[in-house]
Amino acid sequence: MNANIPDAALTPAMRQYLQIKHENSDSIIFFRMGDFYEIFFDDALLVSKALGLTLTARDREKKIPMCGVPFHAGLAYAARLVKDGHKVAICEQTTPAGGKGIVERVVTRVITPGTALEDEILSGDQKSNNYIAAITGGRKQFAFAYMDVSTGEFRITELSTTELLEDEIKRLQPRELVTDGTIAVGPDALSTVKKISAISKFDFELDTAAERLGRHFGAASLDGFGLGEMPEGVRAGGALLHYIKQTHKSELSHVTKCAPYFTADYLMLDSSTRRNLEITESLRPGAKDATLLDLLDRTKTSMGGRLLKSWLLYPLKDITAINARLDAIAELMLDRRSIYSIHLLLEGVYDLERLTSKVSAGIASPKDIIALKETLIKCPAIKDALKPFTASILKQIAGGIDCCAEAIDLIEKALAEPPPPSIRDGGVIKAGYNAALDELRDIGYGGKDWIARLEAGERKRTGINSLKVAYNRVFGYYIEITRANLLNVPQEYVRKQTLANAERFVTPALKDWEEKILSAEEKSKALESALFSTVLTALAGFSARMQATAQSLAALDAITSLTAVSHNFAYVRPIVDASSALVIEGGRHPVVEANLRGAGAMGFVSNSLALDSTLNQIIVLTGPNMAGKSTYLRQNALIVLMAQIGCFVPAEKAVIGAVDRIFTRVGASDDLSKGQSTFMVEMTETANILNNATPKSLVILDEIGRGTSTYDGLSIAWAVVEYLHDSAPVRARTLFATHYHELTDLALTKERVKNYNMAVTEKTGKVTFLRKVVHGGSSRSYGIQVARLAGLPSQVIERAKELLKNLESGELNEAGMPAITSRGAATNALESAKPLTAEDPLRKRLRAVDVNGLTPVQALMELNKLKELLGE
Ligand SMILES: Nc1ncnc2c1ncn2[C@@H]1O[C@H](COP(=O)(O)OP(=O)(O)O)[C@@H](O)[C@H]1O
Ligand SMILES: [Mg+2]
Repeated sequence: MNANIPDAALTPAMRQYLQIKHENSDSIIFFRMGDFYEIFFDDALLVSKALGLTLTARDREKKIPMCGVPFHAGLAYAARLVKDGHKVAICEQTTPAGGKGIVERVVTRVITPGTALEDEILSGDQKSNNYIAAITGGRKQFAFAYMDVSTGEFRITELSTTELLEDEIKRLQPRELVTDGTIAVGPDALSTVKKISAISKFDFELDTAAERLGRHFGAASLDGFGLGEMPEGVRAGGALLHYIKQTHKSELSHVTKCAPYFTADYLMLDSSTRRNLEITESLRPGAKDATLLDLLDRTKTSMGGRLLKSWLLYPLKDITAINARLDAIAELMLDRRSIYSIHLLLEGVYDLERLTSKVSAGIASPKDIIALKETLIKCPAIKDALKPFTASILKQIAGGIDCCAEAIDLIEKALAEPPPPSIRDGGVIKAGYNAALDELRDIGYGGKDWIARLEAGERKRTGINSLKVAYNRVFGYYIEITRANLLNVPQEYVRKQTLANAERFVTPALKDWEEKILSAEEKSKALESALFSTVLTALAGFSARMQATAQSLAALDAITSLTAVSHNFAYVRPIVDASSALVIEGGRHPVVEANLRGAGAMGFVSNSLALDSTLNQIIVLTGPNMAGKSTYLRQNALIVLMAQIGCFVPAEKAVIGAVDRIFTRVGASDDLSKGQSTFMVEMTETANILNNATPKSLVILDEIGRGTSTYDGLSIAWAVVEYLHDSAPVRARTLFATHYHELTDLALTKERVKNYNMAVTEKTGKVTFLRKVVHGGSSRSYGIQVARLAGLPSQVIERAKELLKNLESGELNEAGMPAITSRGAATNALESAKPLTAEDPLRKRLRAVDVNGLTPVQALMELNKLKELLGE
């Protein structure tokens, strides 16, 4: 604050401002003065720049910079600041201006990136949640509590390491993080966090936090929520709830429960696996239709979209729960007409989850209430459409949908349709709902009638046909007479204003009526707003029922979305069990397949997989670059993931022994943002896999060791496979793709390692990819052929062949080469260069020549023979 102004020189309002700024020092203060929010000092400098507002000064000496925004647009301006990561404290006048003493002002709401409820701030991706999270940590446990204020979702978990904590942050991507300033998380966990709000340690104290949670939920003990044994969780949750209440200055009555959760209940995917498999975010930012979510999300409502996304972020492990979703999809699949009619009905459903929150918070607009009603009106038909189904989830959904008929009734009786955009404009309440309001409106309308009659009467009396009665904000109602007719103006007219062509007058009678009309209008608007508030309060009484309905509709939307995709792409129901099998017949990559659809080319080639922990634990997949190895690896991981969210899968048949974690080490993407080399990232991820994989895990290793020199890379890759195979507690099912064909030798000594390769055909030095996975190892890399396909100049290709020849023969002949190098690389070298091996007829003949016993002519003839042998 650059307020180097002596206190005595400040006006009382500025002193009040400084006090409020002091109490909210980390927020920009929107200080209400009449029809504007004014912003002062450093805030004004920041805001004028950020929003492009004119900077003025409050005082004559120009020591107090100032800018302002009209009050009715305040939220829109605040939203832009909040999206940039600022907090805005809205400070309103609470006593009318013009009375005795200074106008009182209080902060009525602090808007922050993570606590928004308003569309203006949430706008953007409605199918994503807007989370705020609190983190805390003791010596052994960390806790993570998060809330979406716009939906009322509030959950708490405890985690044993900072890595797991960081992973949870990355998974939910909160906009704002609340801490006590003591635990540090890595910068990449904070990439989506717009604001870190450090609050007092006191708010994180166990007693304080437990007491606040208990009071909010009206529960004497937190055991009922399952929080009894989660002290760290309670600390984080209590602090979070308190912080949000402080910003909202409200009771958050729509937050009705707090559910603990445990990451171990879900199929774990660390953040690099989520990224590598492109589950909710594409590896290439901005790419369209690149993620599994893009493919699976056919939801019709934002709340359904949000739920589906959370299913993808938290796939299940519990076989019963997975099968419950599969049962529902299976049943819906049989009745396509029902899916269609449910989809149609859902199209008319609005975001009931957020609407309910807005009603509870008292900030719903008339338009929101009409949307709420239109949604509730759809409910009976949706319940009807679900009647024929018997799957437990579908029955549960039908049971959870509550039409809240009394709420519909109230809205229909009270609110006018279509709704005006804002309550300020009036016209919100329906005629006939409230007698006092009807009367005030009659006066208003009657007054306008009277004005029309007055105009007609005065025209007749004065004989001035152009006489006009009109209204403006400065003079109110007036009579306007053109200059040419001024002679005929009656005595009692009082002149108010002179224009170029006309003069404006008022009369006492006109002013009397004006008073009546305007005060009736004002009173009726005030009454409307009071009535609207009571409607909101009455509707808030339904919030628990509406929330349950919202959750059911969201689940229905998500399930029908999965059904629609399953049907559209002919997916099958997977068998999900507790075995260690991973048997997939005719599997496809769901996203690549969808994108190839209609492309006219050969389409997607399906491939099978047979993996288990007893005989076929590790598959080493070889094949040249571009053959389809990475696609195959990912498709199998995605099929497992899809099965475990309870969706049908792109295959002809699939048996999935439920997986506890999917690990991936895919591609050689440089992670420059982390400032680590490719190789370091690769090794860190590999270490994570080896340290954490279990017999229930699925491990996907794609070209590990690529980030370093060939022999280093090969050796590391080799040792990693050995470890996964031999280290008894691990034995994770593993898919290992490599273009080091040397790794196929592993299968010679490791019984559960099986070799497969991507089939290619080669004709006259040109390779064709068949995209088919076949038994056995490939013995060659085809690197140069692939380089030719890529269009490298033929000169380069030829030179590369030459070099390759030298290198490969070198590998064979030189002593001290690692035993793992190829069994026959040289014999398989390029067809254009017949290698000079011991068996070569040319060599044989050459060796047999007795140089001393030849005449010159014989020597010439022999030379000719040798050239013939060479094929020239
Ligand atoms: N089964 C398949 N059917 C059709 N196209 C495929 C198939 N597998 C891979 N492709 C396509 O082949 C290209 C290379 O695949 P990729 O998996 O990256 O190969 P690799 O990892 O062996 O270098 C990709 O463009 C991919 O879309
Ligand atoms: Mg690859």
